[in-house]
Amino acid sequence: MDRIVIEGGHRLRGRVRINGAKNAALLIQCASLLTDQATTLRHVPILSDVATMSRLLERLGCAVEGDRTLAIDPAAVAQGSLEAPYDLVKTMRASITVMGPLLARYGRARVSLPGGCAIGARPIDQHLKGLEALGAKIQLVHGYVELRAKRLRGAGFVFDTVTVGGTQNVMMAACLAKGTSRLENVAREPEVQELATVLVKMGARIRGAGTSVIEIEGVDALHGLDHSILPDRIEAGTLAVAAAITRGDVLLEDAPVDHMHAQIAKLEEAGVQCRVEPDGLRVIGPEQLEAVDVATQPYPGFPTDMQAQIMVLAACARGQSLVTETIFENRFMHVPELARMGADIHVNGHSAIVRGPTKLSAATVMATDLRASASLVLAGLVAAGSTEILRVYHLDRGYEAIEKRLRKIGAQIKRYHGARA
Ligand code: UD1
Repeated sequence: MDRIVIEGGHRLRGRVRINGAKNAALLIQCASLLTDQATTLRHVPILSDVATMSRLLERLGCAVEGDRTLAIDPAAVAQGSLEAPYDLVKTMRASITVMGPLLARYGRARVSLPGGCAIGARPIDQHLKGLEALGAKIQLVHGYVELRAKRLRGAGFVFDTVTVGGTQNVMMAACLAKGTSRLENVAREPEVQELATVLVKMGARIRGAGTSVIEIEGVDALHGLDHSILPDRIEAGTLAVAAAITRGDVLLEDAPVDHMHAQIAKLEEAGVQCRVEPDGLRVIGPEQLEAVDVATQPYPGFPTDMQAQIMVLAACARGQSLVTETIFENRFMHVPELARMGADIHVNGHSAIVRGPTKLSAATVMATDLRASASLVLAGLVAAGSTEILRVYHLDRGYEAIEKRLRKIGAQIKRYHGARA
């Protein structure tokens, strides 16, 4: 297993280009199952999650080639098992979003139930209720969800809770249903909008993506497409925090500024300069950061995928910050690791009080999930001494070659292959 070693205390300076958005890429990979024509995706981030989704598509019978540019040919899926097996779903929950496309295109699907994950129980009841509303017959058998429908039919459905994956799954299915669907209380995340843009390019009729009501007029068939994936707002936000806490000056080329308003507002509140420039977002860290209160919310609120990272900023900031997690039940696993580096964080239910400024000190720490790992890298950038991060595979799920990109802007960071000698 790889590990990363960071020598803290270096200011970050320079330019770094933001990669394609992981969560958009994964869903567009799923959407390629809605047609039997070939799809080409460009600006795809090279990540283990994307590779896992490609493996799942291959198991389903797709021919998949390339990495940065990904060519997916689903012509042979009809002869396959139409099954997403446990070994893949358990490594990546986003696998369950093949459910809607398979059901809509082929009339049946068998998808392993994902079970819980490190950040909470994460049920999929809303995915299932939404698909049922479109006419799916659903059974839970031996840990698998089995779905059937001759032809889905358009329907109204109101989500009980705002779910990104649920919205995407049901929206994809509704594209091939007979008649019109009206989905209410849907997620408004940019990745939902991006998926809708892609589906429309494939011939779907969708209105309202990006608002809380989406209307979809079903069509009989969709066609393939060629699409370049939008830049990742979470990667951009993570690198923005890196610049902010190192008193750095970094231009995040192609940063999707319009999708980052909540993040930028909090950075500015902490005293960070965020300048929108023609090439992207320039982030300049102050001599002294100030405390900020942050509560995660569905988009356009502050993203839960940035909660762990902003907590590192709070630890470096002067004063007391209150960080509240409203989306996931167990998303403070980075706290004990940050505490080992000296952070003063007190968790009470869904909130954490962070008292700063703390001079973090390097330690050997363990990554527990994707964004928690990112927070440990950030802490390592400012900690005195040499921080060693274990279980780097969590990081590789969502950050492409993070060590190379941080090194380019001045970090002292190295990856070692294999365990410690
Ligand atoms: C997506 C993102 C993930 C991000 C999350 C919230 C992808 C691949 N992943 O995950 O990075 O952290 O959005 O922004 O895009 N819920 C239910 N029932 C359901 C579905 C969800 O109760 O059927 C709950 C979840 O347990 C959670 C909340 O709704 O508490 C939000 O989850 P959801 O938006 O579905 O997250 P994902 O789509 O899994």
